[in-house]
Amino acid sequence: MVNEKRSVGILATGRYLPEKVLTNADLEKMVDTSDEWIVTRTGISERRIAREDEASSDMALAAARQALEKAKVAPEDLDLIIIATVTPDMFFPSTACIVQEKLGAMKAAAFDLSAACSGFLYGASVAAQFIQNGMYRYALVVGVESLSKITDWTDRNTCVLFGDGAGAAVIGPVEDGMGFLSFELGADGRGAELLKLEAGGSRKPVSKVEPGSRENYIHMAGGEVFKFAVRAMNSASDAVLVKAGISKEEVDFLVPHQANLRIIDSATKRLGLPDDKVIVNLNRYGNMSSASIPVALDEAVSEGRIKEGDTLVLVGFGGGLTWGASVVKWSTKEKGND
Ligand code: ACO
Repeated sequence: MVNEKRSVGILATGRYLPEKVLTNADLEKMVDTSDEWIVTRTGISERRIAREDEASSDMALAAARQALEKAKVAPEDLDLIIIATVTPDMFFPSTACIVQEKLGAMKAAAFDLSAACSGFLYGASVAAQFIQNGMYRYALVVGVESLSKITDWTDRNTCVLFGDGAGAAVIGPVEDGMGFLSFELGADGRGAELLKLEAGGSRKPVSKVEPGSRENYIHMAGGEVFKFAVRAMNSASDAVLVKAGISKEEVDFLVPHQANLRIIDSATKRLGLPDDKVIVNLNRYGNMSSASIPVALDEAVSEGRIKEGDTLVLVGFGGGLTWGASVVKWSTKEKGND
């Protein structure tokens, strides 16, 4: 099959959300905030928090097992594992290698990918290239984040926004004309300072961090990121539709990154979609960065909202700054070997 282009899509999805729920009422006891402020400014009511002994690989593994089972793909048949995360278990080895071993997917190449909230779409597009060109048949892409572990729980500007979770997708060949119709990826490093975790890398190793400096937590210039997000969501959705040759009227569902309801509303208006055609779950989970899109997708598919043949726009943005979008003609029917 080498060098033969084929249609590639998502054969199945899975998700894992930690049990612990942190509500806005809980946050009112931790910082100077209110349920009313959080709901009106962001749309978030509660979020999930990983256990102290629960790391990203644990959550990724649970979501991955679900997706593989639904896809009826054995771990031994996986060719590639990509874990999109900004909260890996550790710097190295990659979380993808840890998941590979736990799954027993010993044939698979494995690596982590860092594109913040756009990570799942970056990962899906990388995986799709390998399958499209015939080098691989099955890839597992997981968006997973343990953001609670890098959240400054004394900073009301950020601690109300984030949550933990994992969403997985098994990617493989689908019938001609189905699956991913187009991808749009982008980055603007001029905005690198707007959203960052400064400490722990080679610029500022953990050993050099002053106690109490709070550089080992997420820092975000919320207002600037907000403006960028609205622009990026709109331009990426426009671009990806043009590339796919699909008009706005043909879109059945928008599956956006779940950061802020006001950002999602702007993208919804731009596409001229009614609210019931937009998949929103940030009220229950907050912003799970790279996990947001695959978890939203998995919920909408398992609830029977998204069906075979629907046209979806997946779109996200995040730290980097980065953005990504894809038009998907939804089909989980695997194409057999010709
Ligand atoms: N409770 C009460 N008041 C608060 C809170 C809070 N939790 N947080 C901020 N405020 C206050 C601020 O201090 C400010 O007070 P001031 O005017 O006295 O200074 C006031 O509320 C307004 O603050 P703004 O920042 O202007 O509020 P805004 O309406 O912009 O909402 C928010 C802030 C929610 C952070 C918004 O800017 C946002 O969603 N930005 C985008 C975040 C995002 O999408 N990140 C995605 C990427 S995440 C990733 O990649 C991992």
